[in-house]
Amino acid sequence: MVEGVTLPLMVADEDGQIIFANKSSQEFTGYSGTELLGLNLRDLCAPYESGRYIFSTLSEIKKTTEVDIDLRRKDGHIFMASVSFAPFDHDGSPCLLLTLRDVTTKRLQEGKTREDEERYRRLLDERNMLQDQLNRSSKLAFMGEVAAGIAHEINNPLGIILGFVQDMLDEVSEDYPLFESIKIIEQETTRCVEVVKDLLDFARLKPAQRTQVDILQLLEDSVLLLIPQFKKNKVKIRRAYENGLPYTVIDPDLIQQVFLNVMINGIQAMPNAGELQLSLGVVRCQQSQQDQNYVRVTISDTGHGIPQKDLKRVFDPFFTTKGGKGTGLGLSVCQQIMDDHGGKIEIESCEGAGTTCSIYLPVQQGT
Ligand SMILES: Nc1ncnc2c1ncn2[C@@H]1O[C@H](COP(=O)(O)OP(=O)(O)OP(=O)(O)O)[C@@H](O)[C@H]1O
Ligand SMILES: [Mg+2]
Repeated sequence: MVEGVTLPLMVADEDGQIIFANKSSQEFTGYSGTELLGLNLRDLCAPYESGRYIFSTLSEIKKTTEVDIDLRRKDGHIFMASVSFAPFDHDGSPCLLLTLRDVTTKRLQEGKTREDEERYRRLLDERNMLQDQLNRSSKLAFMGEVAAGIAHEINNPLGIILGFVQDMLDEVSEDYPLFESIKIIEQETTRCVEVVKDLLDFARLKPAQRTQVDILQLLEDSVLLLIPQFKKNKVKIRRAYENGLPYTVIDPDLIQQVFLNVMINGIQAMPNAGELQLSLGVVRCQQSQQDQNYVRVTISDTGHGIPQKDLKRVFDPFFTTKGGKGTGLGLSVCQQIMDDHGGKIEIESCEGAGTTCSIYLPVQQGT
């Protein structure tokens, strides 16, 4: 009878072990019927809720009791539910009939004070963001393994081909009929070697070597490396740097790779002139409920921008809109490097107007 009821209903024993769950509660929690039967009510809660008093006094509930509890769906999404515990006797053993309702929106509207509401919403956002990060890291870890496998297999043969082609180029003169073709083989093989290098970096085969780094100097060194590209695309550079920036403890090679990837993306988005604005400053952000200082590097271009539909995919490995000219690994490598440094990278864009990439590097306390 209860199977067909649209309200999520479950039955638990007095230890909280789930012994029945109707279809609606399966949709509500994201778990299948069989999965739910192996779970305890505590397993359905947000981690910080599993120690709630009510769970240690389930056997003492004598009349229907309703409590607000933050629940966590199987996909990790946290929401506020009103759970009603109604005691009843099943063949002589005391049980509880549970009715669940999602009350997130309702409670937020009732919000005792605006401050409570904001604090609660921030907490939920943070939990859901952490879950997203977890999903992303497992996706990246998997891609990393695949990439390392492929890279190892093709690195040696590529090196051998390149060696022979370069020998051939040394031997033949420029008027040899196949000179151009051999040259193309050399160029394209070199490109493959670069892709493999990206894949190996992506698979995190290069261990981070951190030292105290002057971020302004590192950014300027990166700009110098790209002077030919800036000139070719007629891109002007503007700078807005705060004075007296603290040192950051980072791997300069890896962070330079981030700067280069992001600046190259900017330059490529401005094939017919434009402006790249670089800014440096210190900002304070919340991280795991604690305030943390970051050096923020923003790199803004006045290029063609990113359509809204692509914006959420730019960090996906192999997502590129540059056809054969891009691997689509640039930003995902950047994101991995930033995660490793306890920092973050964000992109905002306005189609037709330009793109801003913000890179946050944590500042060590006391610097
Ligand atoms: N500044 C930017 N302006 C416009 N589009 C951008 C910008 N930065 C990134 N993108 C978009 O994000 C996609 C992914 O960028 P990413 O750097 O990861 O790969 P890619 O540049 O295509 O290839 P690769 O970096 O390997 O050469 C790009 O193809 C482009 O569509
Ligand atoms: Mg790129």
